[in-house]
Amino acid sequence: MPLVSMRQLLDEAAKGGYGVGAFNVNDMEQIQAIMEAAKETNSPVIIQASRGARQFAQDRYLYHLILAASELYPNIPIAMHQDHGNSFETCKSAIELGFTSVMMDGSLKADGKTPSTFEENVEVTRKVVDFAHERGITVEGEIGVLGGVEDGHGAGGSGLDHITDPDQAVEFAERTGVDALAIAIGTSHGAYKFTKKPDGSVLKMDVLIAIHKRLPNTHLVMHGSSSVPKDLQDIVNQYGGKLKETWGVPVEEIQLGIRNGVRKINVDTDNRLAITGAIRKVLWESPEKFDPRDYMKPAREAMQKVVALRMTQFGQAGHAGDYKPASIADIAKGYKDGSLSTRPLVAAK
Ligand code: G3H
Ligand code: 13P
Ligand code: ZN
Repeated sequence: MPLVSMRQLLDEAAKGGYGVGAFNVNDMEQIQAIMEAAKETNSPVIIQASRGARQFAQDRYLYHLILAASELYPNIPIAMHQDHGNSFETCKSAIELGFTSVMMDGSLKADGKTPSTFEENVEVTRKVVDFAHERGITVEGEIGVLGGVEDGHGAGGSGLDHITDPDQAVEFAERTGVDALAIAIGTSHGAYKFTKKPDGSVLKMDVLIAIHKRLPNTHLVMHGSSSVPKDLQDIVNQYGGKLKETWGVPVEEIQLGIRNGVRKINVDTDNRLAITGAIRKVLWESPEKFDPRDYMKPAREAMQKVVALRMTQFGQAGHAGDYKPASIADIAKGYKDGSLSTRPLVAAK
Protein backbone atom coordinates (compact mmCIF):
# COMPACT_ATOMS: atom_id res chain seq x y z
CA MET A 1 0.00 0.00 0.00
CA PRO A 2 1.42 3.48 -0.79
CA LEU A 3 2.01 5.88 2.09
CA VAL A 4 -1.29 7.44 3.11
CA SER A 5 -2.48 10.91 4.07
CA MET A 6 -2.35 11.54 7.81
CA ARG A 7 -5.54 13.56 7.40
CA GLN A 8 -7.42 10.51 6.18
CA LEU A 9 -5.94 8.39 8.95
CA LEU A 10 -7.10 10.92 11.57
CA ASP A 11 -10.53 11.45 9.97
CA GLU A 12 -11.06 7.69 10.21
CA ALA A 13 -9.87 7.73 13.82
CA ALA A 14 -12.42 10.45 14.58
CA LYS A 15 -15.19 8.40 12.98
CA GLY A 16 -14.14 5.37 15.01
CA GLY A 17 -13.60 7.37 18.22
CA TYR A 18 -10.01 6.24 18.72
CA GLY A 19 -6.53 7.81 18.85
CA VAL A 20 -3.44 7.01 16.80
CA GLY A 21 0.04 6.89 18.31
CA ALA A 22 2.71 8.81 16.42
CA PHE A 23 6.02 7.15 17.16
CA ASN A 24 9.40 8.79 16.53
CA VAL A 25 12.07 6.95 14.58
CA ASN A 26 15.76 7.43 13.95
CA ASP A 27 16.79 4.06 12.55
CA MET A 28 15.71 0.80 10.93
CA GLU A 29 15.15 -1.12 14.14
CA GLN A 30 12.63 1.43 15.44
CA ILE A 31 10.70 1.29 12.15
CA GLN A 32 10.73 -2.51 12.33
CA ALA A 33 9.49 -2.44 15.93
CA ILE A 34 6.55 -0.18 15.01
CA MET A 35 5.61 -2.27 11.98
CA GLU A 36 5.69 -5.54 13.89
CA ALA A 37 3.54 -3.96 16.61
CA ALA A 38 1.13 -2.69 13.93
CA LYS A 39 0.91 -6.16 12.39
CA GLU A 40 0.42 -7.79 15.78
CA THR A 41 -2.43 -5.40 16.66
CA ASN A 42 -3.73 -4.72 13.11
CA SER A 43 -3.24 -0.97 13.53
CA PRO A 44 -2.87 2.00 11.16
CA VAL A 45 0.34 3.88 12.02
CA ILE A 46 1.99 7.28 12.03
CA ILE A 47 5.76 7.14 11.81
CA GLN A 48 7.42 10.46 12.50
CA ALA A 49 10.91 11.89 12.18
CA SER A 50 12.15 15.01 13.92
CA ARG A 51 14.70 17.35 12.38
CA GLY A 52 17.29 15.68 14.60
CA ALA A 53 16.27 12.26 13.27
CA ARG A 54 16.46 13.42 9.66
CA GLN A 55 19.95 14.70 10.32
CA PHE A 56 21.10 11.69 12.33
CA ALA A 57 19.97 9.04 9.85
CA GLN A 58 20.05 11.11 6.67
CA ASP A 59 16.39 11.52 5.81
CA ARG A 60 16.64 9.67 2.51
CA TYR A 61 17.50 6.49 4.43
CA LEU A 62 14.46 6.98 6.66
CA TYR A 63 12.21 7.64 3.68
CA HIS A 64 13.31 4.47 1.89
CA LEU A 65 13.10 2.39 5.06
CA ILE A 66 9.50 3.55 5.55
CA LEU A 67 8.75 2.79 1.89
CA ALA A 68 10.19 -0.69 2.48
CA ALA A 69 7.81 -1.01 5.43
CA SER A 70 4.86 -0.12 3.20
CA GLU A 71 5.90 -2.89 0.77
CA LEU A 72 6.47 -5.45 3.49
CA TYR A 73 3.19 -4.69 5.31
CA PRO A 74 0.76 -3.97 2.46
CA ASN A 75 -2.29 -4.11 4.74
CA ILE A 76 -1.12 -1.45 7.18
CA PRO A 77 -1.85 2.22 6.33
CA ILE A 78 1.28 4.27 7.12
CA ALA A 79 1.49 8.07 7.30
CA MET A 80 5.00 9.52 7.28
CA HIS A 81 5.18 12.71 9.30
CA GLN A 82 7.72 15.48 9.93
CA ASP A 83 7.75 16.10 13.68
CA HIS A 84 8.36 19.69 14.91
CA GLY A 85 9.24 21.37 11.63
CA ASN A 86 10.86 24.67 12.64
CA SER A 87 10.40 26.59 9.38
CA PHE A 88 8.71 26.64 5.99
CA GLU A 89 11.93 25.31 4.44
CA THR A 90 12.04 22.27 6.73
CA CYS A 91 8.43 21.40 5.90
CA LYS A 92 8.97 21.99 2.18
CA SER A 93 12.00 19.72 2.10
CA ALA A 94 10.07 16.97 3.91
CA ILE A 95 7.21 17.26 1.41
CA GLU A 96 9.61 17.20 -1.52
CA LEU A 97 11.22 14.07 -0.10
CA GLY A 98 7.87 12.26 0.12
CA PHE A 99 6.52 12.77 3.65
CA THR A 100 2.70 12.66 3.60
CA SER A 101 2.32 14.99 6.58
CA VAL A 102 4.24 17.80 8.27
CA MET A 103 4.13 19.62 11.56
CA MET A 104 4.88 23.31 11.35
CA ASP A 105 5.73 24.12 14.96
CA GLY A 106 5.35 27.88 14.71
CA SER A 107 4.85 28.18 18.46
CA LEU A 108 8.62 28.66 18.54
CA LYS A 109 10.78 30.79 16.29
CA ALA A 110 12.96 29.02 13.70
CA ASP A 111 15.68 28.57 16.35
CA GLY A 112 13.35 25.99 17.96
CA LYS A 113 13.78 27.66 21.36
CA THR A 114 12.26 31.14 21.56
CA PRO A 115 8.46 31.40 21.81
CA SER A 116 7.11 33.25 18.75
CA THR A 117 4.24 35.72 18.59
CA PHE A 118 0.75 34.61 17.61
CA GLU A 119 0.98 36.58 14.35
CA GLU A 120 4.33 35.00 13.43
CA ASN A 121 2.89 31.57 14.11
CA VAL A 122 -0.20 32.22 11.96
CA GLU A 123 1.89 33.58 9.12
CA VAL A 124 4.39 30.74 8.82
CA THR A 125 1.78 28.04 9.42
CA ARG A 126 -0.56 29.43 6.78
CA LYS A 127 2.31 29.49 4.29
CA VAL A 128 3.01 25.82 5.00
CA VAL A 129 -0.71 24.93 4.74
CA ASP A 130 -0.97 26.62 1.32
CA PHE A 131 2.08 24.78 0.00
CA ALA A 132 1.15 21.41 1.56
CA HIS A 133 -2.56 21.29 0.79
CA GLU A 134 -1.98 22.06 -2.87
CA ARG A 135 0.03 18.81 -2.87
CA GLY A 136 -2.41 16.77 -0.75
CA ILE A 137 -0.16 16.84 2.31
CA THR A 138 -1.50 17.12 5.86
CA VAL A 139 -0.43 19.91 8.23
CA GLU A 140 -0.27 19.90 12.01
CA GLY A 141 0.20 23.26 13.74
CA GLU A 142 0.94 24.08 17.35
CA ILE A 143 -0.40 26.77 19.59
CA GLY A 144 0.84 27.25 23.14
CA VAL A 145 4.28 25.96 24.07
CA LEU A 146 5.26 22.59 25.53
CA GLY A 147 7.80 22.33 28.31
CA GLY A 148 11.15 20.55 28.20
CA VAL A 149 13.94 20.39 25.65
CA GLU A 150 14.74 17.45 23.38
CA ASP A 151 17.89 17.39 21.32
CA GLY A 152 18.14 21.17 21.54
CA HIS A 153 14.49 21.64 20.49
CA GLY A 154 11.99 23.20 22.89
CA ALA A 155 11.42 26.24 25.03
CA GLY A 156 12.52 24.53 28.24
CA GLY A 157 10.71 25.23 31.51
CA SER A 158 7.60 23.58 32.84
CA GLY A 159 4.76 22.37 30.66
CA LEU A 160 2.50 24.81 32.49
CA ASP A 161 4.29 27.97 31.33
CA HIS A 162 2.34 28.54 28.09
CA ILE A 163 -1.04 26.78 28.18
CA THR A 164 -3.10 27.15 25.00
CA ASP A 165 -5.78 29.85 25.07
CA PRO A 166 -9.01 28.40 23.52
CA ASP A 167 -9.93 31.73 21.84
CA GLN A 168 -6.53 31.86 20.16
CA ALA A 169 -6.84 28.20 19.13
CA VAL A 170 -10.11 28.97 17.32
CA GLU A 171 -8.67 32.04 15.60
CA PHE A 172 -5.52 30.07 14.66
CA ALA A 173 -7.55 27.23 13.14
CA GLU A 174 -9.69 29.68 11.17
CA ARG A 175 -6.76 31.68 9.82
CA THR A 176 -4.45 28.76 9.01
CA GLY A 177 -6.75 25.87 8.04
CA VAL A 178 -4.52 23.27 9.73
CA ASP A 179 -5.75 19.67 9.74
CA ALA A 180 -4.47 18.94 13.22
CA LEU A 181 -3.55 21.12 16.15
CA ALA A 182 -1.07 20.42 18.93
CA ILE A 183 -2.14 22.14 22.10
CA ALA A 184 -0.24 22.79 25.30
CA ILE A 185 -2.08 21.42 28.33
CA GLY A 186 0.83 20.91 30.70
CA THR A 187 2.85 18.10 29.16
CA SER A 188 6.51 18.40 28.23
CA HIS A 189 8.97 16.45 26.13
CA GLY A 190 11.43 13.98 27.59
CA ALA A 191 11.53 11.78 30.69
CA TYR A 192 11.23 14.50 33.34
CA LYS A 193 7.65 15.71 33.10
CA PHE A 194 6.27 15.57 36.62
CA THR A 195 7.72 15.15 40.10
CA LYS A 196 4.58 13.33 41.29
CA LYS A 197 1.81 11.37 39.59
CA PRO A 198 -0.20 14.02 37.74
CA ASP A 199 -3.98 14.20 38.02
CA GLY A 200 -6.68 16.34 36.36
CA SER A 201 -5.51 19.39 38.30
CA VAL A 202 -2.02 19.19 36.80
CA LEU A 203 -2.95 18.47 33.19
CA LYS A 204 -5.37 21.07 31.84
CA MET A 205 -7.93 18.63 30.48
CA ASP A 206 -10.64 21.29 30.87
CA VAL A 207 -8.76 23.44 28.33
CA LEU A 208 -8.56 20.49 25.93
CA ILE A 209 -12.28 19.80 26.29
CA ALA A 210 -13.13 23.49 25.72
CA ILE A 211 -11.01 23.61 22.56
CA HIS A 212 -12.54 20.43 21.15
CA LYS A 213 -16.06 21.77 21.70
CA ARG A 214 -15.22 24.84 19.64
CA LEU A 215 -13.10 23.08 17.01
CA PRO A 216 -14.84 19.76 16.41
CA ASN A 217 -13.30 19.33 12.93
CA THR A 218 -9.68 19.95 13.87
CA HIS A 219 -7.89 16.88 15.14
CA LEU A 220 -6.20 17.57 18.46
CA VAL A 221 -2.66 16.35 19.09
CA MET A 222 -1.03 15.58 22.42
CA HIS A 223 2.74 15.93 22.41
CA GLY A 224 4.95 14.84 25.28
CA SER A 225 2.64 11.87 25.86
CA SER A 226 5.06 9.26 27.09
CA SER A 227 3.90 7.62 30.30
CA VAL A 228 7.49 6.99 31.48
CA PRO A 229 6.50 3.69 33.14
CA LYS A 230 8.24 2.83 36.38
CA ASP A 231 9.14 -0.68 35.15
CA LEU A 232 11.07 0.76 32.19
CA GLN A 233 12.86 3.27 34.47
CA ASP A 234 13.72 0.41 36.83
CA ILE A 235 15.29 -1.76 34.11
CA VAL A 236 17.51 1.12 32.99
CA ASN A 237 18.62 1.80 36.58
CA GLN A 238 19.00 -1.88 37.51
CA TYR A 239 21.63 -2.26 34.80
CA GLY A 240 23.75 0.76 35.56
CA GLY A 241 21.56 3.66 34.42
CA LYS A 242 21.07 6.80 36.48
CA LEU A 243 17.54 8.05 35.86
CA LYS A 244 16.06 10.25 38.56
CA GLU A 245 12.56 9.43 39.84
CA THR A 246 9.95 10.87 37.50
CA TRP A 247 6.35 10.55 36.26
CA GLY A 248 4.92 10.78 32.78
CA VAL A 249 1.40 11.25 31.43
CA PRO A 250 -0.98 8.60 32.78
CA VAL A 251 -2.59 6.56 30.00
CA GLU A 252 -6.03 7.26 31.55
CA GLU A 253 -5.50 11.00 30.96
CA ILE A 254 -4.65 10.30 27.32
CA GLN A 255 -7.77 8.14 27.03
CA LEU A 256 -9.83 11.00 28.47
CA GLY A 257 -8.25 13.20 25.78
CA ILE A 258 -9.17 10.67 23.09
CA ARG A 259 -12.80 10.82 24.24
CA ASN A 260 -12.54 14.58 23.71
CA GLY A 261 -11.04 15.00 20.26
CA VAL A 262 -7.40 13.89 20.64
CA ARG A 263 -6.55 11.83 17.55
CA LYS A 264 -2.74 11.88 17.44
CA ILE A 265 -0.60 11.03 20.46
CA ASN A 266 3.15 11.57 20.26
CA VAL A 267 5.36 9.03 21.98
CA ASP A 268 9.14 8.88 21.83
CA THR A 269 10.62 8.76 25.34
CA ASP A 270 8.92 5.47 26.36
CA ASN A 271 10.52 3.76 23.37
CA ARG A 272 13.90 5.30 24.11
CA LEU A 273 13.67 3.92 27.66
CA ALA A 274 12.63 0.46 26.45
CA ILE A 275 15.51 0.29 23.98
CA THR A 276 18.10 1.58 26.43
CA GLY A 277 16.96 -0.79 29.19
CA ALA A 278 17.16 -3.81 26.89
CA ILE A 279 20.62 -2.89 25.61
CA ARG A 280 21.93 -2.17 29.11
CA LYS A 281 20.63 -5.54 30.33
CA VAL A 282 22.46 -7.52 27.65
CA LEU A 283 25.73 -5.63 28.04
CA TRP A 284 25.55 -5.78 31.85
CA GLU A 285 24.77 -9.50 32.01
CA SER A 286 27.02 -10.56 29.12
CA PRO A 287 29.94 -8.11 28.92
CA GLU A 288 31.70 -10.47 26.54
CA LYS A 289 29.11 -9.83 23.80
CA PHE A 290 29.98 -7.47 20.96
CA ASP A 291 27.70 -8.45 18.06
CA PRO A 292 25.18 -5.56 17.81
CA ARG A 293 22.47 -8.07 16.91
CA ASP A 294 22.80 -9.55 20.40
CA TYR A 295 21.48 -6.32 21.92
CA MET A 296 19.57 -4.71 19.04
CA LYS A 297 17.20 -7.68 18.77
CA PRO A 298 16.04 -7.48 22.40
CA ALA A 299 15.95 -3.68 22.08
CA ARG A 300 13.67 -3.94 19.06
CA GLU A 301 11.46 -6.45 20.86
CA ALA A 302 11.24 -4.20 23.93
CA MET A 303 10.13 -1.27 21.78
CA GLN A 304 7.61 -3.45 19.92
CA LYS A 305 6.06 -4.40 23.25
CA VAL A 306 5.63 -0.75 24.30
CA VAL A 307 4.23 0.29 20.91
CA ALA A 308 1.76 -2.64 20.74
CA LEU A 309 0.52 -1.78 24.23
CA ARG A 310 0.03 1.88 23.35
CA MET A 311 -1.77 0.95 20.10
CA THR A 312 -4.20 -1.11 22.15
CA GLN A 313 -4.61 1.59 24.83
CA PHE A 314 -5.14 4.36 22.26
CA GLY A 315 -7.77 2.23 20.46
CA GLN A 316 -6.20 2.09 16.99
CA ALA A 317 -5.75 -1.69 17.30
CA GLY A 318 -8.01 -3.61 14.92
CA HIS A 319 -8.59 -0.64 12.59
CA ALA A 320 -5.92 -1.12 9.88
CA GLY A 321 -8.36 -2.57 7.38
CA ASP A 322 -11.37 -0.31 8.01
CA TYR A 323 -10.95 1.87 4.94
CA LYS A 324 -9.51 2.12 1.46
CA PRO A 325 -6.67 4.66 1.40
CA ALA A 326 -7.36 7.63 -0.85
CA SER A 327 -4.60 8.75 -3.18
CA ILE A 328 -2.69 11.87 -2.20
CA ALA A 329 -3.96 13.43 -5.46
CA ASP A 330 -7.56 12.85 -4.36
CA ILE A 331 -6.82 14.41 -0.98
CA ALA A 332 -5.41 17.46 -2.82
CA LYS A 333 -8.70 17.73 -4.73
CA GLY A 334 -10.61 17.68 -1.42
CA TYR A 335 -8.54 20.61 -0.15
CA LYS A 336 -9.07 22.48 -3.41
CA ASP A 337 -12.84 22.04 -3.55
CA GLY A 338 -13.22 22.88 0.15
CA SER A 339 -14.67 19.51 1.18
CA LEU A 340 -11.70 18.90 3.48
CA SER A 341 -11.74 22.37 5.05
CA THR A 342 -11.51 22.36 8.84
CA ARG A 343 -11.95 26.13 9.22
CA PRO A 344 -14.68 26.55 11.84
CA LEU A 345 -16.54 29.30 9.95
CA VAL A 346 -16.37 27.41 6.63
CA ALA A 347 -17.48 24.16 8.30
CA ALA A 348 -20.41 25.92 10.03
CA LYS A 349 -21.91 26.99 6.67
O1 G3H B 1 9.79 16.25 20.06
C1 G3H B 1 10.62 15.50 20.43
C2 G3H B 1 10.81 14.11 19.95
O2 G3H B 1 10.94 13.29 21.07
C3 G3H B 1 11.99 14.02 19.04
O3 G3H B 1 13.13 14.30 19.73
O4 G3H B 1 14.35 16.10 18.52
O5 G3H B 1 15.51 14.49 20.09
O6 G3H B 1 14.69 13.73 17.86
P1 G3H B 1 14.52 14.70 19.00
P1 13P C 1 7.70 12.25 24.73
O1 13P C 1 9.04 12.84 25.05
O2 13P C 1 6.76 12.35 25.89
O3 13P C 1 7.77 10.86 24.22
O4 13P C 1 7.04 13.16 23.58
C1 13P C 1 7.37 12.96 22.24
C2 13P C 1 6.86 14.03 21.35
O5 13P C 1 6.00 14.84 21.69
C3 13P C 1 7.42 14.10 20.00
O6 13P C 1 6.96 15.19 19.26
ZN1 ZN D 1 6.55 16.94 20.37
